[in-house]
Amino acid sequence: MTPTTLPQIDLLRFSTAGSVDDGKSTLIGRLLYDSKAIFADQLEAVERASASRGDEEIDLALLTDGLRAEREQKITIDVAYRYFATPKRKFIIADTPGHIQYTRNMVTGASTAELAIILIDARKGVLTQSRRHGFLATLLRIPHLVVAVNKMDLVDYAQNVYTEIVRDYTAFTQKLNAQDVTFIPISALRGDNIVEKSGHMPWYDGPTLLHHLENVNVGASLNNIDFRYPVQYVLRPNQQFRGYAGQVASGRIAVGEAVVALPSGLQSRVKAIVTADGERDWANVGDSVVLTLTDEIDISRGDMLVRVNNLPEKSNRLDATLCWMSEEPLKRRGQYWVQHTTRLVSGFVAELNYRIDVDTMHREATDTLRLNEIGRVQLVTTQPLYYDRYALNRATGSFILIDPATNNTVAAGMIRGESQDVGRLLEGEVEATPVRPKSSNVIWEQHGITLAQREEKNGHKAAVLWFTGLSGSGKSTIARKLEQHLFAAGIHTMYLDGDNLRHGLNGDLGFSSADRQENIRRAAELAKLSFAHGNVTLACFISPFTADRRFARQLIPDGRFLEIYVKCDLEVVKRRDPKGLYAKALAGKIPDFTGISSPYEEPVNAELVVETDIYSVDDIIAQIMALLRQRGIVP
Ligand code: ADX
Repeated sequence: MTPTTLPQIDLLRFSTAGSVDDGKSTLIGRLLYDSKAIFADQLEAVERASASRGDEEIDLALLTDGLRAEREQKITIDVAYRYFATPKRKFIIADTPGHIQYTRNMVTGASTAELAIILIDARKGVLTQSRRHGFLATLLRIPHLVVAVNKMDLVDYAQNVYTEIVRDYTAFTQKLNAQDVTFIPISALRGDNIVEKSGHMPWYDGPTLLHHLENVNVGASLNNIDFRYPVQYVLRPNQQFRGYAGQVASGRIAVGEAVVALPSGLQSRVKAIVTADGERDWANVGDSVVLTLTDEIDISRGDMLVRVNNLPEKSNRLDATLCWMSEEPLKRRGQYWVQHTTRLVSGFVAELNYRIDVDTMHREATDTLRLNEIGRVQLVTTQPLYYDRYALNRATGSFILIDPATNNTVAAGMIRGESQDVGRLLEGEVEATPVRPKSSNVIWEQHGITLAQREEKNGHKAAVLWFTGLSGSGKSTIARKLEQHLFAAGIHTMYLDGDNLRHGLNGDLGFSSADRQENIRRAAELAKLSFAHGNVTLACFISPFTADRRFARQLIPDGRFLEIYVKCDLEVVKRRDPKGLYAKALAGKIPDFTGISSPYEEPVNAELVVETDIYSVDDIIAQIMALLRQRGIVP
């Protein structure tokens, strides 16, 4: 008896992000006040408080903060939800007690938030924090972003201030792949463009904030397909009744449908669905219900009911994105509680792959994550989790980390999938190469000294700098000089060069595509061994094909393979022609010559592009050294 259409969703859950002075409280107060969504007694209290302070206008922040103070006495959770409604729609705002922990209200409750308001102070423009909020919202897959450019009254409602911010921020969101970004110039304090259209900004012809909130498309981002029901409580009021209370995390279920309990694997059927308003034939994502089953099977809190033919993934090694929310930095290998749906297990961060610089979106090597930092980690749990990837299911794809010493939530995580490399990372080892040996009797030999030990002793990290570019572009010249520089600084290096390798190891190879592929395969394997020995490895190969460079990259852990595109105009290298090869190739004397009779596929995701027809060798060395320091490879 499943209904064929979903019930009309007239509810929008959203979060707000901004720092203390950006006017978040005032904005929420203004929304509640102007939409007449607050209760008369609360309003009166605020009016009295404002008057007693001699304010002419009522202080809307008092409304928000006052309600908060009142609430904080009663509840101790991190996030509070504020409800309001207009004739068109109901709203739930996830809000947190202000100050610096601004990521928290976006992260907590993000599994159902469909819109995030990012506040930007018109006087300050786009700040690191504004970018962080946008990045986080995109990471969390919150489908709609509203950038509210606030305090327009303090910049005389100047259109150019607004358009400048729109331009700046758009340049950033384009990098993020954000789906839907709406800009609105407002003054929360004066009420411009919140509920009523502002008379001060005739140049703006978009919607007011409330109009946008009332009309934005909702419901599309919820997972209505995969039924996941984490059991919160087992109810057993008497011998006759045994029910399982919880919230449908995703998907839907109907009476009579077959379900399986995880982890036990025991199967049964849904006998009844009980809600606060009596029995129902079905339950939808977001519904809080009690399920009863036709069989007495053993189920406890933290178990999950799913459909028999639609199971989540299962693993205790997870690749995840982590948003750190605590003043106390991440302790790698330290023990944390992992709260995933209604389940609590113990776990630790086995590896920290990188941290993301939200200004540049670059990945940086790091030893820890600090407050508000976002990074990629490999997480190990003592018992397996039943999860979906966050991209597919926000509810079962997210978790939080809890510090067992303080019981504080210290991080929120989004699962990207099963960890591929945590096994070797645990040993601090370099993994067997993905190219399988011809004989199954060949077994990968573990090194006696781990990479971590080598790096500690060396005082720097290992890395592979992969120089790619046309013959004569300057790869070897740069790498040779860079190596001298690193050598002088006491860095352990290894220098691999195309021409040199072709004298020995690769002496059997020519320049057909197949031979070049094999050339790069061997070179990349060599680079990997050198990497495993702790060296900053300088690899100079034309490596003209994207696929071959990708092969080399995936042999090395994330953040340690730096592709450097040595770029030089073809006309310039032809003129330079240090080995006289271009002249020969142009005369038809060298077949398959890169740039002449064989293609060079330009890198699109190089960590660095250095232009040898513009900059001097010394300038380029400085650029590369800056990259190495920024990525934490060398001190
Ligand atoms: S790759 O394409 O397989 O990566 P690799 O870097 O090893 O090339 O070798 C390139 C060097 O081989 C060039 O610097 C050049 O001196 C020499 N060479 C000889 N024939 C060719 C050719 N047909 N194309 C490119 N380089 C060639």
